[in-house]
Amino acid sequence: MTSTNWPLPLHLHQKLLLVLVCFTMLLFLSDLVKSFTVEVSDSNTSTVPSSSTPLIDGISTKQDNARTDTREQQAVYDIMKATGNDWAIDIPDVCRGRWHGIECMPDKDNVYHIVSLSFGALSDDTAFPTCDPTSSTISPSIINLPHLKTLFFYRCFSYNPHPIPSFLGQLGPSLQTLVLRENGHVGPIPNELGNLTRLKVLDLHKNNLNGSIPVSLNRITGLRSLDLSVNRLTGSIPGLTFPNLNVLDLNQNRLTGTIPSTLWDCHSLIKLDFSRNRLSGPIPDKLTGLNDLMLMDLSFNRIQGPFPKSLKSLSSLQVLILKGNPMGSTIVPDDGFDGMKGLMILVMSNTNLHGSIPESLGKLTNLRVLHLDGNHFNGSIPKSFRNLRSLSELRLNDNGLIGSVPFEREMVWRMKRKLKLSNNLGLCYDASSGLGDSVDFDFGIGLCESSSPGSGRTVQHVSDREKPGPKTTLMDDVSISSDASFARSMRLATFVLFTLIFL
Ligand SMILES: *[C@@H]1O[C@H](CO)[C@@H](O)[C@H](O)[C@H]1NC(C)=O
Ligand SMILES: *[C@@H]1O[C@H](CO)[C@@H](O)[C@H](O)[C@H]1NC(C)=O
Ligand SMILES: *[C@@H]1O[C@H](CO)[C@@H](O)[C@H](O)[C@H]1NC(C)=O
Ligand SMILES: *[C@@H]1O[C@H](CO)[C@@H](O)[C@H](O)[C@H]1NC(C)=O
Repeated sequence: MTSTNWPLPLHLHQKLLLVLVCFTMLLFLSDLVKSFTVEVSDSNTSTVPSSSTPLIDGISTKQDNARTDTREQQAVYDIMKATGNDWAIDIPDVCRGRWHGIECMPDKDNVYHIVSLSFGALSDDTAFPTCDPTSSTISPSIINLPHLKTLFFYRCFSYNPHPIPSFLGQLGPSLQTLVLRENGHVGPIPNELGNLTRLKVLDLHKNNLNGSIPVSLNRITGLRSLDLSVNRLTGSIPGLTFPNLNVLDLNQNRLTGTIPSTLWDCHSLIKLDFSRNRLSGPIPDKLTGLNDLMLMDLSFNRIQGPFPKSLKSLSSLQVLILKGNPMGSTIVPDDGFDGMKGLMILVMSNTNLHGSIPESLGKLTNLRVLHLDGNHFNGSIPKSFRNLRSLSELRLNDNGLIGSVPFEREMVWRMKRKLKLSNNLGLCYDASSGLGDSVDFDFGIGLCESSSPGSGRTVQHVSDREKPGPKTTLMDDVSISSDASFARSMRLATFVLFTLIFL
C-alpha cells in the first residue's frame, strides 16, 4: 500500500527548492552589488539598476581603459549564440553590457574576467537570459572562461535533449557551483565532472540522466551539496566520502544495492535523501559521528531490518522518514529512539514493524508528527505518549493495537482529525479521554467496556507501567498552531542549512 496523501515531504522539498532558488538569487544579487561598486566610481550614475530593470541596462561609456579579456568576450558571444541570445553580440563589451546573468571581476591590471554565467527564467523577478529550449546547446567555448566560479542553466535544453557535455570537466579550477537543473539532459553523468575538484555545489536535479553515479566524483573532496535527484540513475551508490558534504540528495532514481557504510564517514551531512529508489539490505549500523544530520529520508525503497541500533545516536535529527520499506518483520528496540531529542517528524508507515510500540517514543517531546500506521504493532498505546505535548499529527491506524487510548482530552482536541486510530484489533477509549465528546469526528473506535459501570471485563494493557511524568496542565495558551510553528522551524532549519552550504 502506497499512501501518497501525506503532503509534508513534498512541502519540504518545495521549500528546499525555494530556498535554493532564493539563495542562488541572493548570491547573484550580492555579486551584482559587488560589480556595481566596482563601476560606480567611473560610471557616475547614482541609480543602481534594480532587478526589475530590463535585461540590458545600456552600455556605460566608461572613460578608463579597463577591458574585458577578449578571449573570454568571444566565448560569451559563442555561449549566448548557442542559447539563442544573439542580441548579445551587438554589445561591444560584455562586462559593461550588464545583463542579469553575467558577472565580471577586474584583475589587478584592470582586465575584466567572467566569473558567473546564468541562464533560465527562475521567476519574474530574475531575468537571466532565457534559452530557446528547442535549439539551445552549451557552446564548447565555455572552457575559455578560466575564472568562472558559477555556471547555472535552468530549463534550457528541454526540447533539445542532449547529454551533459564532457568538456565541462575542463572548466577552470575556480568553478565552485555547477547547476544544470531541469534541463532535459539525457545519457550518463560524464566521468570528467570529477575533474572539477574545486566544486562545492553540483546540482543535476530533474533531468533524464541514466547510467550510474561516477566514482570519479569522489575526487571533489570539498563538495558541500550533491543533488542528483529525479533522474534515471541506476547501479549502486558508490562508496562516496565527502568530509564537507552537507546535502546529499539522490531521491527518485533507480538506484539499487545497499546503502554503503562509507557514507557515514560524511560527517558534515545535514540532509540525506535516498527516497524513492530500489535500495535494499539493512541500514548500515554505524551511524555514529553524524552529529549534524537533521533530515534522513529513506522512504519507498526495499530496505530490510534489523532496526539499526546506532540510529539513536543521531542527536540532531529532526526528520526521519522510513515509510514504504518492507523492513522484514522488524522489531523496534525499546530504546531505539533514545537520544534523538530533536526529532520532530517520525514517519514509519507501512514498514512491516512488529511487536509493541516503544514506550521510549514518549521521551521525544519535540515530536510534531508521528506516523506508525499500517504496521503490525500489538499491545497497547504507551502511556508515555501523554508526554508528547507538541504532537499535532498521530497515525496509529491499521495495526493490531488493543486497550484504552491513554490520551487526555486536551491532546485529542489538539489533533482532531489528524488523530487516526481506526482499524486496530481492540482499541477503545475511556469516557474521560474526550474521544467520545465530539459529534464532528469519528475516531473509529468505541467506548471501553471497563468504563461503563457494571461491566466485569477490563481491557488489559500490555504495558501498565505508570509513568510519573510531568504534571498534565491544559495548554490552552499554546495555540493550536503547531503546524505553523513546525513550518516556521523547518524554514529556519532550511535557511540555516543553506547558509552553511554557501558561506
Ligand atoms: C556626474 O554627473 C553629474 C550630472 O548627472 C555631472 O554634473 C557631473 O559633472 C558628473 N561628474 C563627473 C565626474 O563626470
Ligand atoms: C578528466 O577526467 C577524465 C575521466 O575521469 C580523464 O580521463 C582525463 O584525463 C581528465 N582530464 C584532465 C585534464 O584532468
Ligand atoms: C541511457 O539512455 C539512452 C537513451 O536515452 C540509451 O540509449 C542508453 O542505452 C541508456 N544507457 C544506460 C546505461 O541505461
Ligand atoms: C506481539 O508481537 C510479538 C512479535 O510479533 C509477539 O512476540 C508477541 O507475543 C505479541 N504480543 C501480544 C500481546 O500479542
